[in-house]
Amino acid sequence: MRRKLVIGNWKMNGSRAGNAELLAGIAAGLTASGAACAVCAPAPYLAQCQAALQGSAIAWGAQDVSAHAAGAYTGEVSAAMLADFACRYVLVGHSERRAYHHESSELVAKKAVAALAAGLTPVVCVGETLAEREAGQTNAVVREQLGAVLEAISAGDVAKIVVAYEPVWAIGTGKTATPQMAQDVHQVLRAQLAEKDGQAAAGVHILYGGSMKPDNAKELLSMPDIDGGLIGGAALKAADFLAIIHAH
Ligand code: G3P
Repeated sequence: MRRKLVIGNWKMNGSRAGNAELLAGIAAGLTASGAACAVCAPAPYLAQCQAALQGSAIAWGAQDVSAHAAGAYTGEVSAAMLADFACRYVLVGHSERRAYHHESSELVAKKAVAALAAGLTPVVCVGETLAEREAGQTNAVVREQLGAVLEAISAGDVAKIVVAYEPVWAIGTGKTATPQMAQDVHQVLRAQLAEKDGQAAAGVHILYGGSMKPDNAKELLSMPDIDGGLIGGAALKAADFLAIIHAH
């Protein structure tokens, strides 16, 4: 049985004061019956997350990582640096990175490898655009995106990744995939993980992301292959994030 996992992706939001309030609110409302949880903060606030959350049940992580280990890569943040701030997770291949920063699946795979090498858990984000869904390409698109990562890692590392299915058309739009639509894709992704390592696939968390809110979380999380959520907007309010964490 996979324990549910709920990760908040703050995207480019937050301030020292606002984060302090949000983190304190989450910590105050979290109960043992809740899902495992984490927040992925902008890089400058990782030290703040570490100071506020160390010793708590809330993990933290980053939203991106460099594919390179060190050197002349201005503006980049390495996996070792994230590990230095005790990050457990790092998102790789979020659709906003793929769209606005032209990240290819090959680059995303290198980032996942860099994260694993530093002992971090990469949260590999995949998802189709509306045009791709309407053209019947959903499964092919997500398989290509996950496939690049699976090709780059060893079978022994399959158990060390998290996958997040985020249909691009559902992100920040208020449109959610129906539980069955999401389940269908999650099943495809789990089968693909099993092609690489049949045993590990059953234990990998596959999260759904895209307008998950307190009022639709329970239904989504009740599907057999939906193991949690990657939450954008609703992760910015402690009450909403807590409601999702406790929704299952
Ligand atoms: O990574 C989370 C995300 O892209 C979903 O965002 O605002 O639709 O929950 P949102």
